[in-house]
Amino acid sequence: MTTNKIFVLFLVFAFIFQAMLLILTYKYPRRTAQTRKLLENVTCNDLLDEWDTDTPVLLIDLDFLEKLNQEECKWNGTAKIKIGIDVTYEVDKSIFNYSPFEVVFYSNNGSKDFLEFHEEPRRIIPKNFERRWVGNFEIPTNTQRFAEFWKRSKYVECLGLEMNRNKSEKAYQNGPYSATKLAELRDELIDIGMYPFLNGGTFLGWYRECTVIPHTYDMDLAVFKENYNPEYAEKVLNGESDFVLRRKFGMLEDSLELTLYPYWDQGLLIDLFVMYDGVENGTLTHHYVSGVNSDGTKYRYTYPMYDPWCAAVLHDHIFWVSCSPMKQVKHEYGPLWYLDHPTDRYGWNSSGKNVKIVGKFSKEEMEKYYLYY
Ligand SMILES: *[C@@H]1O[C@H](CO)[C@@H](O)[C@H](O)[C@H]1NC(C)=O
Ligand SMILES: *[C@@H]1O[C@H](CO)[C@@H](O)[C@H](O)[C@H]1NC(C)=O
Ligand SMILES: *[C@@H]1O[C@H](CO)[C@@H](O)[C@H](O)[C@H]1NC(C)=O
Ligand SMILES: *[C@@H]1O[C@H](CO)[C@@H](O)[C@H](O)[C@H]1NC(C)=O
Ligand SMILES: *[C@@H]1O[C@H](CO)[C@@H](O)[C@H](O)[C@H]1NC(C)=O
Ligand SMILES: *[C@@H]1O[C@H](CO)[C@@H](O)[C@H](O)[C@H]1NC(C)=O
Repeated sequence: MTTNKIFVLFLVFAFIFQAMLLILTYKYPRRTAQTRKLLENVTCNDLLDEWDTDTPVLLIDLDFLEKLNQEECKWNGTAKIKIGIDVTYEVDKSIFNYSPFEVVFYSNNGSKDFLEFHEEPRRIIPKNFERRWVGNFEIPTNTQRFAEFWKRSKYVECLGLEMNRNKSEKAYQNGPYSATKLAELRDELIDIGMYPFLNGGTFLGWYRECTVIPHTYDMDLAVFKENYNPEYAEKVLNGESDFVLRRKFGMLEDSLELTLYPYWDQGLLIDLFVMYDGVENGTLTHHYVSGVNSDGTKYRYTYPMYDPWCAAVLHDHIFWVSCSPMKQVKHEYGPLWYLDHPTDRYGWNSSGKNVKIVGKFSKEEMEKYYLYY
């Protein structure tokens, strides 16, 4: 009798328990949907207030940063917002599982001028950007610039070939020092809206041996024409720069080249080439930079469609480079690009595999387009 009663009670409880489980599993998705509804249309700033974290985090989500700049920034409740967290905080990623955020760790090494994001592919961006804080959220203020950094952030490695040079050979470049000066010029260019990338021998040196080729006389940077800001040369001439303009060759339309040096070091010449679109029959097929000789001869150095959307490290400094370095050095220096070629036997207007004569400036043109300062 008593065992029967217990059995019946057991059945009743089991039934109720099952019913509750059913109701719960049925209700659960509706509840999350409802939470979503409540969070839908929150303004972005409310969202940041709501989810303020214990650790400082860097907002790196380009979509979200873009929206944050708009008056009525709404978060639609579904998109995950990408944030960066400094690895040294040793945060457990899983605490963000039910937040609107997707976490990427990054390293911030005091002796390097870039942040390194630990994701696939690896990404690095310059540290040098303005930011503001909302609670523990670090927000890049110049969204456009930050987006340009991100667009060029895919990390590519140099080869680091052993060059076995004759130690008694004269060296004009000291890698770490030269890279530091080049980085200073890079920052001035970024400040005025240009995004320069390594070119010529400096590009070869980075890729081949991870340094500046010691026997080269100067360093080379390039910047796309659409990116070139003519105000820069004016600023330098007005003394509003840490650099001095040595020469300005060519026309803005198709052949401009500047040579600069740091105010305190006339020996460290840096060429800044403007890189132009190579259009054939109305189609963009290649890119080129130019050179001019003292007799007026115009040279053109062509490249396969240039792709400077990757980032590299040169003595702890970040520089932008082509994403297909092997293809580019082979094109410019030929199949034996990996062999050392003494600079004093390298003809700037003849040795490159990609150089050709394309015309000649007249005497009058030279007065305008061949300037020494
Ligand atoms: C969110 O905004 C959209 C359009 O602005 C509106 O249709 C929708 O009803 C809003 N949702 C809530 C929960 O207020
Ligand atoms: C929410 O916004 C993201 C981009 O910000 C978009 O990809 C996604 O489709 C949106 N979702 C809805 C439900 O509107
Ligand atoms: C920071 O970078 C320097 C130079 O590359 C390196 O020697 C050092 O180990 C790095 N520090 C950390 C904490 O990774
Ligand atoms: C290294 O260069 C010096 C001076 O240019 C020269 O005298 C010497 O023979 C060279 N040594 C080798 C091994 O090539
Ligand atoms: C451009 O057009 C010309 C004449 O139609 C032709 O000879 C030439 O091969 C074309 N070049 C390219 C790169 O298509
Ligand atoms: C290269 O420039 C030098 C002078 O700097 C000149 O003598 C030589 O003819 C030029 N070579 C070519 C191929 O234009």
